[in-house]
Amino acid sequence: METTALLNNGVRMPLVGFGTYQITDPGQCRQSAELALEAGYRLLDTAQNYGNEKSVGEAVRACGIPRGEIFVTSKVWFRNHPGGECRRSVYRSLERMGLDYIDLMLIHWPFNDVYAAWRDLETLYEEGTVRAIGVSNFAPDRLVDLINYNRVVPAVNQVETHLFCQQKTAHRWMEKYNVVHQAYAPLGQSRINHMFALPAVRDAALAHGKTPAQVALRFLVQQGIAVIPKSVHEERIRENIDIFDFCLTQGEMEALSAVDNAEPMIGTATDPARAEAARDWKSREL
Ligand SMILES: NC(=O)c1ccc[n+]([C@@H]2O[C@H](COP(=O)([O-])OP(=O)(O)OC[C@H]3O[C@@H](n4cnc5c(N)ncnc54)[C@H](OP(=O)(O)O)[C@@H]3O)[C@@H](O)[C@H]2O)c1
Repeated sequence: METTALLNNGVRMPLVGFGTYQITDPGQCRQSAELALEAGYRLLDTAQNYGNEKSVGEAVRACGIPRGEIFVTSKVWFRNHPGGECRRSVYRSLERMGLDYIDLMLIHWPFNDVYAAWRDLETLYEEGTVRAIGVSNFAPDRLVDLINYNRVVPAVNQVETHLFCQQKTAHRWMEKYNVVHQAYAPLGQSRINHMFALPAVRDAALAHGKTPAQVALRFLVQQGIAVIPKSVHEERIRENIDIFDFCLTQGEMEALSAVDNAEPMIGTATDPARAEAARDWKSREL
């Protein structure tokens, strides 16, 4: 099957990327990212708020793979949305990474002055500083509203998506507007043990000689949903991209689809408590 997704602006994005959230130790982040590139990943996912853009950039520059073959995603933190600060913060991201363009820049959370940030991203996109722009954690209503009142349709919406939170409704809205659905926490982050013990996962893993993680990732990718699993262990880094040599049957896909309980684990931007927490969030300059 295809290993890339075609974005709505003609740019191709790998369906499997490497996530770097919570890899805060600079040496470990650079080493994991380099291992991922060596293992065949061509997409690295970072964010201003992860504190590891510098290490990710170092891995990209040191790996020996041509820059044009690597897809780098970062995300603007919501504190940087208003008054032209989004634009300035993207330049700071570029400087931290030591790169002269970013492949995909996302609005990380739909808080604060999202529309000011989006207009800055549109300009950066039109100038070629970023090859594509998109959003993250946007519920369908926010996504459609953003599309209604702006020039550029987001290329990607990165949202929490895994077996327990399959985002079926959100996926249909993304399809309608030709926005690629990218799954964060595709292994369920901290709920892995519970997820990997599900009979539907275990049975499919046994039938194909694959691991539960590979089944959980393949289930998403087989529906055209991009995934960005994170690991700091070489064996798992390799395992998580080795999902293109088998195909889940229709019965297996249906059994896996049935375990969805539409329950986000990380939370959603539609939760007012989360918006309050965002308001009170203090940070170093990002
Ligand atoms: N846009 C957003 O708001 C947002 C939010 C969260 C995450 N993200 C992005 O999405 C990426 C992925 O999400 P995530 O890191 O939260 O969670 P995840 O990828 O679902 O799960 C990561 C966890 O799974 C473990 N793991 C990885 N591969 C495994 C395997 N094959 N078998 C067993 N365990 C395995 C990892 O442990 P080890 O590292 O110890 O191997 C780690 O504890 C992030 O890194 C980040 O880039 C974006």
